[in-house]
Amino acid sequence: MTAAPLNQPLAALPDAAGPQGGPLHVGLIMDGNRRWAKARGLPRALGHKAGVDAVRRTVQAAADAGIGWLTLFAFSSENWQRSADEVRDLTGLLRIYLRREVNTLAKNGVRLRVIGERDRFGSETVSAIAAAEEATAGNTRLNLTVALSYGARAEIAAAARALAAQVAAGTLAPGAVDEAMLTRHLATRDMPDPDLIIRTSGEQRLSNFLLWQAAYAEFVFLDVLWPDFEAAHLDQALAEYRRRVRRFGVGSG
Ligand code: IPE
Ligand code: IPE
Ligand code: MG
Repeated sequence: MTAAPLNQPLAALPDAAGPQGGPLHVGLIMDGNRRWAKARGLPRALGHKAGVDAVRRTVQAAADAGIGWLTLFAFSSENWQRSADEVRDLTGLLRIYLRREVNTLAKNGVRLRVIGERDRFGSETVSAIAAAEEATAGNTRLNLTVALSYGARAEIAAAARALAAQVAAGTLAPGAVDEAMLTRHLATRDMPDPDLIIRTSGEQRLSNFLLWQAAYAEFVFLDVLWPDFEAAHLDQALAEYRRRVRRFGVGSG
């Protein structure tokens, strides 16, 4: 495939293609579950439950749209500070999602992987994650990454620790540490950088999601609360992305 010039409008590329014509990587900060429940006078847990339904729809929509990589921010390192009740609701829903959805994911060609400090969850959740990863390991249509107990600062600190240990052991020269090497020590080492990051609920911040990897991502902030997210919102964000001209510091535009 011929690479498109970096400053070429994306409208000239297939809908689900990244800037070089490769598969697009979309990151999604799924926000607004509690506000959705509150607006309906429902318990918070039902907002999170409706959020899981939106995840199901969105994974299907992303696969149908031909997106190659979808990374969902489902639970941040900071979300552990929520009440024990809410954390229990969220981890319970996560286990249900993994167990119920694994067959559909496998059938639809979705490969599921989890990034983040999974060992902070209980053993039942850790096993459900491992089982879903194993059952979908051979799939290639859509790479679905779920960020769980994930925080970009913790991820970067872990990479720095790993490199420091190699330096201390005398197997790595400090001068050899460069951007590529740090990238290879992140949880996302096998993934392309995100091209587009969508956040729902109207908030306009990263909240510690993919800080290193998002250096040149495009951002689309949508006013919809996560449980109301539909395929049409994904299409809207993709259409907005295709109108952007990405320059990576070099284009003229
Ligand atoms: C997103 O919705 C889900 C998680 C962060 C786990 P929230 O729970 O943050 O809901 P709001 O943003 O408070 O409405
Ligand atoms: C970000 O949402 C984390 C997830 C979507 C999992 P939060 O609701 O936790 O972020 P803040 O607190 O609004 O920044
Ligand atoms: Mg929130």
